[in-house]
Amino acid sequence: MAKQRVLSGIQPTGRAHIGNYLGAFVNWVQDQRVNDSIFLIVDLHGLTVESDRDAMRAATLDMAATLFAVGIDPSDATVVIQSHVPGHAQLGWVMECTATYGELSRMTQFKEKSKGLSKVRAGLFTYPALMAADILLYHADLVPVGDDQTQHLELARDLAIRFNNAYGETFTVPRAQRVSHGSRVMDLANPLQKMSKSASSPQGIIFLSDSDDEVARKIARAKTDTFNEVAYLPDDPERSGITNLLEMLGALTVKPPEECAVEYSGYGQLKKALTETLVELLAPIRTRFELYQNDPAELVRLLEQGAVRANEIASETVWDVYDRLGLVGVAGR
Ligand code: TYM
Repeated sequence: MAKQRVLSGIQPTGRAHIGNYLGAFVNWVQDQRVNDSIFLIVDLHGLTVESDRDAMRAATLDMAATLFAVGIDPSDATVVIQSHVPGHAQLGWVMECTATYGELSRMTQFKEKSKGLSKVRAGLFTYPALMAADILLYHADLVPVGDDQTQHLELARDLAIRFNNAYGETFTVPRAQRVSHGSRVMDLANPLQKMSKSASSPQGIIFLSDSDDEVARKIARAKTDTFNEVAYLPDDPERSGITNLLEMLGALTVKPPEECAVEYSGYGQLKKALTETLVELLAPIRTRFELYQNDPAELVRLLEQGAVRANEIASETVWDVYDRLGLVGVAGR
């Protein structure tokens, strides 16, 4: 059977956290062995909110080092910085002209992210069209994402189908690939809210770069409740803190959270086990991250290699799309 193409992306707007790891990276690392995988560091998406030049540069390279540190193998998978491939912006515009204002207005992430901003960038509104382009550009079959990206993925599917109906079979219609647990890791301090690079306070986030002490401190302070009985009751909002800890431990140890629940008689025990599991996971990631961080030339080489391969695929798609739309190609195309 032909290999499936897998594509996913992450924004370089801050350090990666355990939600990114469980909701995305775990799948990415598994996928790369069996599928033809492309992983994007979506810096252009990072421009949709206020960004700082130095922070953007540092976060983009740190995210690349993180991906290699968690186990993405450049000989198996293509890791690429979005802005290194002009096709994203080119197809992004076509997708903006395929999507409707009504569709983009219904995106819940736009509503959440624009709340409270005094100036909302137009790019924040059209962001899902660029994300659709990211996926369709490479004819991706599967898109491993956490729960928060489901609506964007649905839009990408709708746009692919709409374009294909209007201009003939052009795009593969992508499918979401979800993890069973960990697809929505919650903030430790406020477990009714998603753990998020941009929205959570550092106390609510386990960063992949956190030291052993930081992990221990954050888990010790993680919000629980007064029931003091370890039970997995995911529908009870009063138990959302314990639910989150059990789901994290379950995802990390590849066990159903209800099975983890019966193993611990108190919250202290559960927190101790989760801390130990996290520390064991993060220590080697931190070491590998530092190796890449200390060798920027190697990092740049790997990213350039990714860009060459990605550009080959992307430019073919763009020219095909332009031709179907009746845009007159340059000589030789
Ligand atoms: P981003 O950068 O917010 O997150 C990257 C990935 O991490 C997942 N994730 C989580 N999973 C579980 N629990 C959490 N608390 C959590 N927070 C984040 C996200 O679901 C995502 O899989 N729009 C995307 C980036 C993107 C993309 C793409 C993804 C751009 N183009 C094309 C897939 C395909 C985003 O902002 O992800």
